Amino acid sequence: MKYKTQISSSTSNKDNFDEGQVSADPLELFALWINDAHQAEIPEHNAIALSTVDTGGKPHVRMVLLKKFDSEGFVFFTNYNSPKAKQLSENPKAAFVLFWSLLEKQIRVEGSIQILSANASDEYFDSRPEGSKIGAWASPQSQPIPNRQYLENLKSDFEEAFQDKPIKRPDFWGGYLLKPDKIEFWQGQPDRLHNRIEYSLVEGEWRIQRLAP
Ligand SMILES: Cc1cc2nc3c(=O)[nH]c(=O)nc-3n(C[C@H](O)[C@H](O)[C@H](O)COP(=O)(O)O)c2cc1C
Repeated sequence: MKYKTQISSSTSNKDNFDEGQVSADPLELFALWINDAHQAEIPEHNAIALSTVDTGGKPHVRMVLLKKFDSEGFVFFTNYNSPKAKQLSENPKAAFVLFWSLLEKQIRVEGSIQILSANASDEYFDSRPEGSKIGAWASPQSQPIPNRQYLENLKSDFEEAFQDKPIKRPDFWGGYLLKPDKIEFWQGQPDRLHNRIEYSLVEGEWRIQRLAP
């Protein structure tokens, strides 16, 4: 993760958040803010509300965990047979929002979606705890199941199937890359006169503008 360790006390400071001072690269600012949330020990600070739209134009939203970001975009992992995966294959656009109440910060991201390379998905899957790997195999995500026991049985079946064998990534499970074309940073201020700085990708360049709250 290219930007992971950068820390600055000025650009992420809420009293000093100005369109003339922010980084030209929104991913750098994203890294600063994520780092602030991490330092503040906000639980699940990488949980994002991910929105997708089906072919009928109906929006759908659910939480997923943001697992990586760099100059390419934002990465999350899921089941490729899930409703969100169907929506993303039919309409490869997505948006997400995250909000940290303690820091009075919101970030909104919009962009297009690509399937992550099999190698990158393998790499992440291999880094997961064994229980999560089995969980990925065992869960027909978002399909109705008769009861809890059904799931436990599937789990046991896969534990048995993979006994003494490496648990490889199921081909129905992997990552997506959201390539951003708009990123907005929102910082709470008194009297609801909040600071909003929006980055839009125009002909390959990030344009920065301030929005009214
Ligand atoms: C905090 C949180 C994090 C979650 N992270 C993921 C995730 O990284 N990947 C995932 O597939 N589902 C995750 N889920 C479950 C999803 O919200 C959702 O129930 C599931 O992906 C099915 O969504 P779908 O039916 O729209 O495809 C998470 C739920 C919560 C509450």
